[in-house]
Amino acid sequence: MSTTESGLPIRPVYGPPDLAEWPAAERLGEPGGYPYTRGVYPTMYTGRPWTMRQYAGFGTAAESNARYHQLVEAGTGGLSVAFDLPTQMGYDSDSPVAAGEVGKVGVAIDSIEDMRVLFDGIPLGEVSTSMTINAPAALLLLLYQLIGVEQGVPGHQLTGTVQNDVLKEYIARGTYIYPPAASLRLTSDIFAYCHREIPRWNTISISGYHMAEAGATPVQEVAFTLANAREYVRTALSAGLDVNEFGPRLSFFFVSRTTLLEEVAKFRAARRIWARVMREEFGATNPKAQMLRFHTQTAGVQLTAQQPEVNLVRVAVQALAAVLGGTQSLHTNSYDEAIALPTEKAARLALRTQQVLAYETDVTRTVDPFAGSYAVESLTDELEAAAVGLMTRVEDLGGAVAAIERGFQKDEIEQSAYDVAKQIDGGARTVVGVNRYVTNNEEPYEPLRVDPAIEAAQADRLARLRAERDADAVDRALDELRTAATGSDNVLDPMRTALAARATVGEVCDALREVWGTYTPATGV
Ligand code: 3HC
Repeated sequence: MSTTESGLPIRPVYGPPDLAEWPAAERLGEPGGYPYTRGVYPTMYTGRPWTMRQYAGFGTAAESNARYHQLVEAGTGGLSVAFDLPTQMGYDSDSPVAAGEVGKVGVAIDSIEDMRVLFDGIPLGEVSTSMTINAPAALLLLLYQLIGVEQGVPGHQLTGTVQNDVLKEYIARGTYIYPPAASLRLTSDIFAYCHREIPRWNTISISGYHMAEAGATPVQEVAFTLANAREYVRTALSAGLDVNEFGPRLSFFFVSRTTLLEEVAKFRAARRIWARVMREEFGATNPKAQMLRFHTQTAGVQLTAQQPEVNLVRVAVQALAAVLGGTQSLHTNSYDEAIALPTEKAARLALRTQQVLAYETDVTRTVDPFAGSYAVESLTDELEAAAVGLMTRVEDLGGAVAAIERGFQKDEIEQSAYDVAKQIDGGARTVVGVNRYVTNNEEPYEPLRVDPAIEAAQADRLARLRAERDADAVDRALDELRTAATGSDNVLDPMRTALAARATVGEVCDALREVWGTYTPATGV
């Protein structure tokens, strides 16, 4: 018998016996009803298609602003900002650490001046914006709020999401700054601040995507993501926050692989697990706090540099899996992303893929079409059981942070990645164009290149900003931030004052580094 990506049995034929004793009502629920197996809204896409939210950002704020205008004109429903590594790690573009990375994998944002350019001509009261930013999430959220104020848009009208999920950064991806305790404090400060100042903002996007891209199986992706989510909820409860208030603004982010059936089962199982954890374990009575709302990105790691046009097919299947699984928001990868930053044409094709699914197929005309499927309901149950089992193992280690400090999740994911690599190298796993159906006459491809002059240009902007601003006001604001970070006051209030006075991202993050220190993985993990 063959197995799924998670190593679960997948039978050649399913039939009535597989669901003979199956408690449909209890396991399924109605669309928009507990435990949300069939989706978080009663009407799902029959009421409104998912948000087509293409992740984009590179070079200067002006270059990224131009790409956002292109995407809005092409029909994208929500913005999704990619920041360069210096910004994600809390360094200014003129920091020696930033050399060679400024504007490379995302847009360089050093100050309120760059944020103003990034959203020039974009009405923040009318768009929802996701920002993929973790350790410095509070800073970019506050800069967004400050630009909203300049546009006359008050905080309660802003909608969007900050990723703000540092636990998965310790496990995969690596853009962390502070030790876990300080990172979790900052996360719950954001929860509290948004409840007060930006109530429609999704305060966190608890992510499985990056762990999946690092090699996690679907079961590991769900289990480690929801284990991290448990840690965030416990942190917020310990800070005295109300689960029925912060719970509805938690959001999630998963990958969608080419193995469509298991992916649909994965999304359905994840909703059911989380609904039960929030209601039974944390006592959430607000239905919105029990709903697992999520964004999906198609699996970048499954794209190939060989015959890149074949990736269009992979992305279409992966996108279909996310839609059949009930995603709220979707990013489709560009076919050339395995080679370089996507060209404008490739980015447009990626969006068109979603538009074909939404407007030319019939998958938006009925809710959760796989409900009652012998195969998918069986896979959903089995994936749920396996994920709950792995979540229990994390609990037995003391929870997500304790397991991270032992390197547990990282070790499990690395083993899965090794197994897949071995299967590909040995030919047991087919990757079209890579280990089968290979061609040698690849067509020439001209990648998009980021102008290296951006580094100097950003350094000049920073020099001018530091010369023109009120240095005393910045120093006072940073001192107040250090005081708040040392105590228990919400650090976002003094942080906003500092950013408004044109303190830079690096200066604000350094002030917190002085108080909280930085995270270094335990040796040997
Ligand atoms: N019936 C009733 N209401 C509906 C509905 C329906 N069928 N469909 C939607 N709605 C309503 C919702 O209730 C919501 O209203 P509200 O804000 O008042 O609650 C509104 O319409 C918008 O719907 P959603 O909230 O479902 O959709 P959004 O797109 O606004 O939000 C999300 C989706 C998942 C909750 C949000 O957190 C989000 O947008 N996440 C995106 C995260 C993202 O883009 N991440 C990128 C990561 S890239 C990365 O990590 C780096 C790289 O390396 C991968």
